[in-house]
Amino acid sequence: MATIRGFIFDLDGVLVDTARYHFQAWQRLAGEIGIKFTEKENEQLKGIGRRESIEKILGWGQKQASEEQIEAWMHQKNLWYLELIETMDEDEVLPGVRSFLERAAQSGLKIALGSASRNAPKILDKVKLTPYFDAIIDGNATTRSKPDPQVFLLGAEALKIAPEKLVVFEDAQAGIEAALAGSFRCIGIGEAKNLKGAEIVLPGLQNTTPSKIINQLNFNN
Ligand code: BG6
Ligand code: MG
Repeated sequence: MATIRGFIFDLDGVLVDTARYHFQAWQRLAGEIGIKFTEKENEQLKGIGRRESIEKILGWGQKQASEEQIEAWMHQKNLWYLELIETMDEDEVLPGVRSFLERAAQSGLKIALGSASRNAPKILDKVKLTPYFDAIIDGNATTRSKPDPQVFLLGAEALKIAPEKLVVFEDAQAGIEAALAGSFRCIGIGEAKNLKGAEIVLPGLQNTTPSKIINQLNFNN
């Protein structure tokens, strides 16, 4: 049984409450294009990149568009998203997250970010979480979207720790699949029905600690 040496966190929906802003911005865009977009469709966009998202939305609406048009829509969605996150501050860090990160750092665990978002560094700065991270891997560093494990493998490489000794925290099915594909341990944050394959599912990082999670993973093993 490999000893856990570090954690890799997804950002949107795990550390901060930005998943709802992505939803609002995509819903506005889909509305303009004339494509139905509800929570149900949104769930399938969690964790995946900007381009993959617009391609899925167009697929649902059975619409085709030129490369230029797709680029313009991606840009527009991001502008709306940036407007929504403009006023974000420390209050939008999800419950329990800051103390969980503090405890993890105090116990000597290494901490990385593994997010598809190209806005990740900006958001971490806004909510003042940047100092907790030993490595930050975001959508600017990757060429393949979750469920490909690339983002987490780059995190493991940056921390110099083997995947089997790292725990991934994810709120998206695509992220759980990415973690499993890379041989990481994985914790789902949210509802079990959206996180198939996660070793443990928790509603959030409140009411738990790094050592509780590590004990439970060791027990399950
Ligand atoms: C992921 C989100 O973290 O990042 C997705 O779950 C989002 O909803 C993706 O599309 C890309 O984010 P951004 O900020 O680069 O558009
Ligand atoms: Mg997420």
